[in-house]
Amino acid sequence: MIPRLFFAHLPTPIEEMPHLSAELKGPELFIKRDDQTGLAFGGNKTRKLEFLLAEAQAQGAETLISAGAIQSNHCRQVAAAAARFGLNCVLVLFGQAPKVAEGNYLLDQLFGAEIVSTTREQRDTKLQSVFEEAQAAGRQPYLIPYGGSNATGALAYAFAFDEMLSQDLSPDWVIFASSSGGTQAGMVLGAKRIYFKGKILGISVDRPAEQLKSLVAQLAEETSIRLGDKISFSSADILVNSDYTGAGYGIMDSPEKEAIRLFARREGLLLDPVYTGRAAAGLIVLIHKGFFKPEEKVLFWHTGGTPALFTKQYSQFLAN
Ligand SMILES: Cc1ncc(COP(=O)(O)O)c(C=O)c1O
Repeated sequence: MIPRLFFAHLPTPIEEMPHLSAELKGPELFIKRDDQTGLAFGGNKTRKLEFLLAEAQAQGAETLISAGAIQSNHCRQVAAAAARFGLNCVLVLFGQAPKVAEGNYLLDQLFGAEIVSTTREQRDTKLQSVFEEAQAAGRQPYLIPYGGSNATGALAYAFAFDEMLSQDLSPDWVIFASSSGGTQAGMVLGAKRIYFKGKILGISVDRPAEQLKSLVAQLAEETSIRLGDKISFSSADILVNSDYTGAGYGIMDSPEKEAIRLFARREGLLLDPVYTGRAAAGLIVLIHKGFFKPEEKVLFWHTGGTPALFTKQYSQFLAN
């Protein structure tokens, strides 16, 4: 039995996006609403945290420790989960903090997380030292890796894949934002376990394709061991497109802005500036290029992140 807590709002709905399909003259488009998983505005981390929190509880943890960028969605959801399960939370955040707390950074504070600031270069060392200090102080820390992407967190998306198929849609393509690799690793594992015929394409948010493919393959293999089926994966099994990483992580440009506006105006759907906006921008370019056959069914898997819309950095660019 794999330890799991049940707090996500599941199954998340799958909706059609007919207006977007028509506007783009593209294939049949669907969206899976993992922006609606519950826990502090939802997102893909809610699913991962069901497994990570169960492991933390089993180990008698009293403090959750994790790290990410100032506007990390992952950290916001870790902070919420800690509050929900009566644990302390320490977040090691890198990057420039806004003068007035906003977006995820504001929510971290509402959830009562202790915030330790650092730089991108120092983040690993800082995380390690924060963890060791908590251990020495008897705070029983449990370390959640960046993005919750280890074999425990990735399990969630193997199960999510079963959930998607039980919703009577067998898409030809599943497309989503991929970064620390846990979401994609879980999905490819879930897919391989049931001999899924469609293709799973991660749009890289920040890493070169080869690097992300090997990360996902390794993580999928480790996760499969957790399920007791030891399926092997190589980079050749993993589809990643890193053509849309633009100027770098978190730097929103016109493609993301256009994608966010298009989803909002045609379907009343909100994407985020860092992850789903970028993945949707990639999807739109692929449709324009004729990458998909007109009769194919394409599922865009929304992974959350919308609180970052409400930050000065992005809102000033998105507003009219
Ligand atoms: C909104 C959102 N989408 C996608 C991702 C990428 O998921 P993964 O890190 O599992 O690749 C993240 C990761 O932080 C995220 O916050």
